[in-house]
Parts: sequence; C-alpha cells; structure tokens
Amino acid sequence: MSRRYMVAGNWKMNGNRAENAVLLDGLLAGAGANAKVEILVCPPFPYLDSVGARLQGSAVLLGAQNLSEQDKAGAFTGEVLGAMLRDTGCGHVIVGHSERRALYGETDELVARKYQAAQKAGLVPVLCVGETLAEREGGQTEAVLARQLAAVLDLCGADSFAGAVIAYEPVWAIGTGKTATPQQAQDAHAFIRGQLRGRSAKIADSTRILYGGSVKADNAQALFANPDVDGGLIGGASLKAADFLAICAAAQ
Ligand code: G3P
Repeated sequence: MSRRYMVAGNWKMNGNRAENAVLLDGLLAGAGANAKVEILVCPPFPYLDSVGARLQGSAVLLGAQNLSEQDKAGAFTGEVLGAMLRDTGCGHVIVGHSERRALYGETDELVARKYQAAQKAGLVPVLCVGETLAEREGGQTEAVLARQLAAVLDLCGADSFAGAVIAYEPVWAIGTGKTATPQQAQDAHAFIRGQLRGRSAKIADSTRILYGGSVKADNAQALFANPDVDGGLIGGASLKAADFLAICAAAQ
C-alpha cells in the first residue's frame, strides 16, 4: 500500500506577523505542487486566520497545535473548540504532543477525548505518541506506545485512524539534536503499525506514521527512507523556509 508522505511544521509557541510573512513567502515560493508529499503548517492559535489567508490557493495545508476536548461551545475560558479551528481554515490538529502531556498534564484519556473531538469537528487529528529517555532506557518503549495508542483505540476504534495521522516523537529527541537513528525510528513505527494491524490490516496499511524529534535537512532522507516512516513532524527546522523545504524535498 503506498502512503503519500506528509511533512508537518509544528511552529510551537514561535513567530510573529513579520516573521510569519517571511517564512510563508519563502515556503510558498519553494513549495510547488509536489504530488509525493503533503505539506502542513501548524502556527499558534492567534495566527491561524492570517496564515490561513496567506495559504489560500496553495497546496500547503493549515493545522492547529491543540484543541478543547469539548464538542460544544460554552463556558470553557481559554479553550478553543474544534469547530472554531475549522472556521479559520484548519483541516488538521495536533493532539497529545509530549509537551502538552508533560507540561500541561494531558493524560492518555484526555488526549483520546481531544482526538475524538477533533474528528467530530471534521478535523484530521495528528496523534502524538512517544517515550521518555527513562522509559526507553528502562525497556518500556513498546509498553508506552501501546498504552498511548490503546486509549484512542478503545475510545474511537481502529477505523477512526482512516481519518487520522500518527506522529511518533521520542521525547528524548525533541529539541535536543539527538535524533533517533533510522533503525530506532523504523522499529518504533513498525511496532505502532503492528498495534493497528492487530485491529485492522487495512487501517494498519493506510495510516501514515510521521517521525518527529530533531529532524533536519541532513538526516531527513535516511529517516524517510524507512518502509514505515511516512514523513515528519518538524519543530525547530520548520521555522526557516529553506530548512523546512529541504526536509520536504527529502520526502521523495
Ligand atoms: O512536534 C514536533 C516537535 O516536537 C519536534 O521538535 O525541534 O525536535 O524538530 P524538533
């Protein structure tokens, strides 16, 4: 089964109107319509409207970095409803990023509810899973990935992954420059795909699994060359157009 690559930029809490304009001008000048790779950018909430307007008519997709687990508007101060993200032109939303799990206490169950709320709003969730260094060194990697996936599988079922993307982001590789080796990435992706296969062979074959964690222009090709790596979720290197485009070009 051939799966189209996706390279997604998670801008995290970075950018401003001026910097965003420079980044997007460079990205749109170089993105071109590349049938082999889907390009997604996920700016902070305040810039979704302006970035979405700039991306209008281009092949570059717009996503958000988080959403509320609520599926109806109401008295939830500070929260953002999935339908509001759709209003800004978002088609995707990152859920369960390790920084939200670690810094903002998002549990596997809350992530599963956010995943469900995203799909109810017509958004494609990019579900982040990954182990910490202590968990890897303790031989717990597969147990952690299985547990994080199971929370979503149990709430939403395997078929829900027909409209989702998974991102494997080993926490110890995020922002550290310590990228997983291509073999480490392939092993984790193959395990994740195996967990899906245990529920549905069709879903296992069709679901894209992105790698995230210090992906750079000089390591992207070796990572993306693996059979179960379907692209990348890029942090730091997504903030400069040339770097991000070089990573997109590696997805061939
Ligand atoms: O969501 C992507 C991010 O966690 C990876 O960050 O800076 O290591 O590419 P970075």
